[in-house]
Amino acid sequence: MQYTFESGIAFASKLDAEDPLFKFRERFYLSPGSIYMDGNSLGLCSKDAEAYILEVIEAWKKEAINIWTANSGHYFLYQDHLGKLLAPMINAESQEVTVMANTTLNIHSGIATFYKPTRERYKILVDDLNFPTDIYAVCSQVKLKGLDPADAVKSVPSRDGRTIEEEDIIAAMTDDVALVFLPAVQYRSAQLLDMKRITAEAHKRGIIIGWDLCHSIGAVPHDFADIDPDFAVWCNYKYLSAGPGAIAGFYLNKKHFGKEPGLAGWHGNKKESQFQMEHKFDHALSAGGWQTGTQPLLSMAPLEGVLRIYLEAGIGAVRKKSLQQTAYLMYLIESRLVQYGFQIGNPREDQRRGGHISLEHDEAFRICQALRQRKVIPDFREPNVVRLAPVALYTSYEDVYNLVEILDQIMKNKEYEAFDDARGLVV
Ligand SMILES: Cc1ncc(COP(=O)(O)O)c(C=O)c1O
Repeated sequence: MQYTFESGIAFASKLDAEDPLFKFRERFYLSPGSIYMDGNSLGLCSKDAEAYILEVIEAWKKEAINIWTANSGHYFLYQDHLGKLLAPMINAESQEVTVMANTTLNIHSGIATFYKPTRERYKILVDDLNFPTDIYAVCSQVKLKGLDPADAVKSVPSRDGRTIEEEDIIAAMTDDVALVFLPAVQYRSAQLLDMKRITAEAHKRGIIIGWDLCHSIGAVPHDFADIDPDFAVWCNYKYLSAGPGAIAGFYLNKKHFGKEPGLAGWHGNKKESQFQMEHKFDHALSAGGWQTGTQPLLSMAPLEGVLRIYLEAGIGAVRKKSLQQTAYLMYLIESRLVQYGFQIGNPREDQRRGGHISLEHDEAFRICQALRQRKVIPDFREPNVVRLAPVALYTSYEDVYNLVEILDQIMKNKEYEAFDDARGLVV
């Protein structure tokens, strides 16, 4: 889409005044005087999330063990309830969505379910730029089958170190590939892959395909009824603001409900017979059949709060604002910051980018420290990326303007030179 922006702060104020999502900002805990641009790492706490945690605590105080059965088993079935609230984010049926464990374990679960290597078809296709845990999980699944990742894990190389070409992914889908596992949005460059095309090409060749939605869920709506992937995983603590280490998401296409879960556990059993304590596992014919152990209610409750905000706002409106805000940020960067050696590392086209801007600079690490001292919270990714994520539900256009104003001052005065380049425990 073509956007038209103006340079001064009055224009940012005008955009805020016209913004239909501006009212949601007050539902989040924003630190006064600071600008939060790290919602793609850990989303801010909302009052709604807090209220749902307190509700669980009250129920625990009042009901003790009966917390599971009170209110017609509301908390025993809570994962189904959250699946129903999450499903609209990806236009899936509610039975196809559940919440469980963390993303890494859910990758294991998806691959353990679908990866049945044969002598001819035994490779898992990944990409060169994906997040390390995805690759670790894929390699360990390959090793569990007695195969060598050096042979059985095939990685599509990036041509430019930022993005992966769809053509290269498709060309790598050779006859020996059993499964493809890719990120919807690249964590560093924010590249959004053409999921529909890649999924269709995989299926044309009889290949199973799973997607990691960690950097898209809550920023980019997906239409899984149309894309029709086999499985997907994601974390709920980034744009979805469900809290540090919040329970993760899992999607399983309904055509696979009859498959045997690769990682089984008693909470995946059909609910009506779970407490008969049979040793024969009879899994639920839904994504819930992939549940394993007892669900962590305290890490699930905040997700309900934030999903209710998303349902009120609408994921379509969130994407519209996110695209406009990131386009505005790119406009300001190009008009004010390129003179200092900054480069925009994310794709420019709306349909090819997620919710953050990937700002590259040789001094990215020290610039991030200078930003933090000025109460701007960015995110650094090796080797040279400042990730900036305006989150539509709580970032204002004035925040975006002020961020660029502060960056301009930091660069003009070389404020970053006062900081050390040594990395900490969590960069
Ligand atoms: C693409 C991607 N996959 C997986 C993870 C890690 O997920 P978890 O720590 O919940 O297992 C992240 C975390 O940032 C991520 O960005």
